[in-house]
Amino acid sequence: MILQVNGMAQACDPAPGRCLRTQLRDLGWFGVKKGCDAGDCGACTVLLDGQAVQSCLLPAWRAEGHEVTTIEGLGGAEGGALHPLQRAFMDAQGFQCGFCTAGMVLTASALTPAQREDLPRAMKGNLCRCTGYRAIADSLAGVRHVGAQPGSDAAPDAAAVVTGASRYTLDADMPGLLHMRLLRSPHAHARIHGIGRAAALAVPGVVAVFTHEDAPARLYSTARHEDFRADPDDTRLLDDVVRFVGQRVAAVVADTEAAADAGCRALTVDYEVLPAVFDPAAAMQPGAPVLHDKPGSRIADPQRNVVARLHRRTGDVAAGFAAADHVAEVTCDLQRVQHAAMETHAAIAWMDGDRLVVRSSTQVPFLVRQALADLFGLPPHGVRVLCGRVGGGFGGKQEMLVEDIAALAALRLGRPVKLELTREEQFAATTTRHPMRVTARLGATRDGVLTAVQVDVVADAGAYGNHSAAVLEHSCAELMHLYRCADTQVDGVAAYTNTVPSGAFRGYGLGQTLFALEQAVDKLAHSLGLDPIAFRRRNMVRPGDSLGALDDIEFGSYGLDQCLDLVEGALAADPGPPAPEGTEWCVGQGVAMAMLATSPPFGHRAESRLFLAADGGFDLHVGTAEFGNGTSTTHCQVAAAVLGTVPARIRLRQSDTDLVGHDTGAFGSTGTVVAARATETAALALRERILLAAAALSGHPAAECRLIEGAVLCGNRAIPLADLPGAGSGLAVMRKADASPRSLAFNVHGIRLAVNRGTGEIVILRSVHAADAGRVMNPMQLRGQVEGGVAQALGAVLHEALRTGGDGAVSNPAFRHYHIPTWADVPRTEVLFADTHDAFGPMGAKSMSESPFNPVGAALANALANATGVRFTAPPFTADRVWAALNG
Ligand code: FES
Repeated sequence: MILQVNGMAQACDPAPGRCLRTQLRDLGWFGVKKGCDAGDCGACTVLLDGQAVQSCLLPAWRAEGHEVTTIEGLGGAEGGALHPLQRAFMDAQGFQCGFCTAGMVLTASALTPAQREDLPRAMKGNLCRCTGYRAIADSLAGVRHVGAQPGSDAAPDAAAVVTGASRYTLDADMPGLLHMRLLRSPHAHARIHGIGRAAALAVPGVVAVFTHEDAPARLYSTARHEDFRADPDDTRLLDDVVRFVGQRVAAVVADTEAAADAGCRALTVDYEVLPAVFDPAAAMQPGAPVLHDKPGSRIADPQRNVVARLHRRTGDVAAGFAAADHVAEVTCDLQRVQHAAMETHAAIAWMDGDRLVVRSSTQVPFLVRQALADLFGLPPHGVRVLCGRVGGGFGGKQEMLVEDIAALAALRLGRPVKLELTREEQFAATTTRHPMRVTARLGATRDGVLTAVQVDVVADAGAYGNHSAAVLEHSCAELMHLYRCADTQVDGVAAYTNTVPSGAFRGYGLGQTLFALEQAVDKLAHSLGLDPIAFRRRNMVRPGDSLGALDDIEFGSYGLDQCLDLVEGALAADPGPPAPEGTEWCVGQGVAMAMLATSPPFGHRAESRLFLAADGGFDLHVGTAEFGNGTSTTHCQVAAAVLGTVPARIRLRQSDTDLVGHDTGAFGSTGTVVAARATETAALALRERILLAAAALSGHPAAECRLIEGAVLCGNRAIPLADLPGAGSGLAVMRKADASPRSLAFNVHGIRLAVNRGTGEIVILRSVHAADAGRVMNPMQLRGQVEGGVAQALGAVLHEALRTGGDGAVSNPAFRHYHIPTWADVPRTEVLFADTHDAFGPMGAKSMSESPFNPVGAALANALANATGVRFTAPPFTADRVWAALNG
């Protein structure tokens, strides 16, 4: 058949059942993205005769005789004119990772004037996980943010993102590419006695089958940290014991995905079903099924299924409670939620001579390289890991979930092998945030002085211990110092269960523990008859306060007081619209605060290499991947500011272990405070060398030379950078940075809402967020990070829950059943910044990307309690659950 795509006639022969999306991607139109297979996300949107359609739902043959337009055909191809909406998305920076952008632009381009009057409805079929939709709404309204404020520089990749030219993980042609599909366990706990491969190998197109018999015996963790000892070695690439429904059992490699799927269906597995346990408290009881019993795996207590424990105290908490006039206690159950990045986990592995190469959707390419080298007994230089642009991470891609098995197949077969998880696999078989039961108990004197803080945490690690110890540490460490109190105690435990593994998730556990602590603070303030904001102001941490066990943290700057003032002032100045009409609506207001170390405690380092190029521009090589976190922009801005030029003159190369220096990776909000600090010191060093070279050439002292755009001004003489000796060769520097000393960033969120007692519906009337991120380098980008974090947190407190049934299996592995926020679900949030300058961060900046998430859920729960008099402790607060709590 012939497809008319972007004005071109293209011959193709789609197999029965092949969807238009897959066909278009096979033809090289990589601007068409795959976010799901169900018409839920809109990432695959194309125009069919000018109408927006979701191409994953349309059989390819149905497009014959119609004109198909992808984002590449809308405008901007080969330097041509951009479509006005592409320009608008650039001007407003209506994207972060950009994976949803092509679909957004195409859908918007086909709206009628009437549809544009109701964008939340008209755009409901297009999901964005990064932005919170405000930046997209501004794009459609024609608002220009780029350049509107000092520092609001565009992302380096902006034009490529809006035209579909950006290359994500699987946007690569690869001759001879094989496809891998995985057979997954139907049992929560079982021993595999045998796997019959013959029928699978007989399926036409199937090339190979891999089982535990082919896998290295070595145990490791899917979690990736600079120090591998942060996680237990409890995972095998393919194991003869499966510990959750959805765990991979075998891999089939074939010429096509369909053949690989058929091969999986033809495998026969002899399982011995074992007893399973699904609750962490039950898992720690004597007699519970033991999930992991290998010695030497850094598991705290394998026989009790305890992955990690934490006990920490200051002073005497019993004495603190004895001194209290009032005590408040809240126990919260935080549910399992997922990252739901628009790009699923994916990798292509191949051999380059005797070297293994993996193109991956990872946040941590260098750590994946080391892990693959260890796993397969290769030297580190025998492995190369690289990234394209990554379609969202949120911590979920700080794991090695696909690279290992794709690498195994490439090493055995010597051919390129692709593995792309489906959305269903992404939900049911990757990682989630740690479900937690958190009890916070506080005591205070009648005049409002906090005397005791006690917190208990029970975390559900799921079937594997990846990140559990670190999450437990991080969820409790800063938490216990948010308030000034001499007598504190925290006890935490993370336990294995036969459920989908928990892992790194935005906030790294602090969002869960703060949810309880900040509700207990609110409850205590009310029992004392004090205003909750005033109570917080009286007791919150101040510079000079002891940070106890956080002995490598210093107050590089402090803006918590400003954040609280900003939110209080904004709520007072503008309470938002009135509640909807009707007597059943009641209104409440709540706030919550958060404090976060600017980087994780387990070691983090980065390297920047900076060159003056022969043409007078600058080449900057860094390790950090770009997945919507904005670090590419930050690197370019920092280098440009030091070198007296504009970010566009900085050519960035990143996240390829062969071409750039080591970087632990962009997680724990370190993209700015570690990696960009390496860039800042590299830029300072290069500037010095350039000035010395110019001084030698001009005869002026270096102190009388300064960098201007494209040149060095020495006295009255402007020497073009390209004319300097060493441009393109010797004028190059490399600098490193690590995470020490760590500083502290702060966030305060305020919410005013209305709740309907008759239906349980919640309407957010006002949402205000204040952030202390040190010097705000790019207000537009930082605002977007905050809005994205707030939207994700609102999803977690209002809608989202990854549910497991009685067999431990995830029962809602689809966007339509999981419900990440759509356009209509996210209110506008006013974003305010404290005015601080950090002593340690690059150019005074601090971290931010994960921390806006942390206080939002507690602020909403406090507002709900304020409105109804009922304390809600188990999100999500869907209308049916709120109604039941109010009317049950
Ligand atoms: Fe929309 Fe990342 S920018 S999903």
